[in-house]
Amino acid sequence: MLRLPRTAMRWKDQRELLLSLPKLASLNRGPRETGIVEQAAFVQEQVCVRLARSLQHFVVQPLDMQMDRFVQQAFHEKAIALESIAGSGTVSSVQKVDRLLSSLRENCSLRETIPCLARACRDLRDHSSTSDCELFVENIISHRIAIRALTEQLFALRDEELFALRDEEHAFANMSKSGIVDLELPIIDVALQIGSSVVEACEDVYGIKAEVNVEGDPHACVSCVPAHARYIVRELLKNAMRASLERRIEEHEGDKSNFAAVEVKAVKNVAGTVLTISDRGCGIPPSSVENIWKYGYSSVPAHDYSSKMLQIAGQGVGLPLARTYARHFGGDLKLCSTEHGTDAHVYFKAFTVEENSAMPRVASMPCSTSWPAQIAL
Ligand SMILES: Nc1ncnc2c1ncn2[C@@H]1O[C@H](COP(=O)(O)OP(=O)(O)OP(=O)(O)O)[C@@H](O)[C@H]1O
Ligand SMILES: [Mg+2]
Repeated sequence: MLRLPRTAMRWKDQRELLLSLPKLASLNRGPRETGIVEQAAFVQEQVCVRLARSLQHFVVQPLDMQMDRFVQQAFHEKAIALESIAGSGTVSSVQKVDRLLSSLRENCSLRETIPCLARACRDLRDHSSTSDCELFVENIISHRIAIRALTEQLFALRDEELFALRDEEHAFANMSKSGIVDLELPIIDVALQIGSSVVEACEDVYGIKAEVNVEGDPHACVSCVPAHARYIVRELLKNAMRASLERRIEEHEGDKSNFAAVEVKAVKNVAGTVLTISDRGCGIPPSSVENIWKYGYSSVPAHDYSSKMLQIAGQGVGLPLARTYARHFGGDLKLCSTEHGTDAHVYFKAFTVEENSAMPRVASMPCSTSWPAQIAL
């Protein structure tokens, strides 16, 4: 049975501050010298609180979940991380910032808890006591996303300090960037870049070159952490290309040249930007609909888990994790599927100046209203 470490008892009741995108961006904009020390202290506190609360989620799970080896592995990694990060002491000088950074680097950047928890979910899904499995994993992953974002923002801030990049001229040239936050990421360019790498991976697996058409307003920029946006786009393109290619192979055995392209569109409106990825595969069968958002669910049969196939599908984390990333800073991911194919809609929320008065004003920033009507699934 898992037991909450003593350090976690100390941190779990501290205040967990909401980490909005503007708040994350503002961490990069403090005054020099005192700025980095204060911000590092803030990051240390918020990482420790989130680690402690994650650990607490583990210890209240049903016993069979606590006994799972993947769950135990994830728990112990978090406990070690908390010990080390809290143990780096109060951050009161630049030297201490560096000590904290090395602890964060060692504990928060490299560990891979997500595949571990997805495997645990897959193993435990049939047990009646694990109906909360998804909620538990969702919770742990949300904390993990915030922890990594805070950590990486602090690395970015320190790098800028070290390389003296925070002068006025540089700040002006990079108006749209604030550490790991990009206020104006051209999402069409991201789709184009990622599209060609997924096409290559598909060719490797299926021996067929998929086609992707990317269109839309080239100025359709989104405010996001680019690593999150890239993850979402990659996962949706992998799914869309897999569906198109497998349908083609099924229906036209032998004719591998001609099939409907995956279409990518971006539309900007006052609420933000909507990216739509559409395929003409065979859609998501009604029998799978309730499973697709579950961590660890994949329609790739276990015997097809070749290392090649895993480039495209099989881990069962793509959709749920993409949605968790999309929702983390107020956006969303919805799917609409019929027997003729699937449309995936990603909503990127507009970044509002009002949310963060400390941020410099970026030209033509849209104001926020509600999301467009929600779509099925
Ligand atoms: N565009 C799509 N068309 C048809 N089925 C889809 C589509 N997108 C997702 N699915 C179904 O949803 C399942 C879960 O998708 P998800 O991306 O989470 O996992 P995966 O693709 O199997 O594995 P990986 O995590 O490696 O991407 C897929 O296995 C597939 O059956
Ligand atoms: Mg996938």
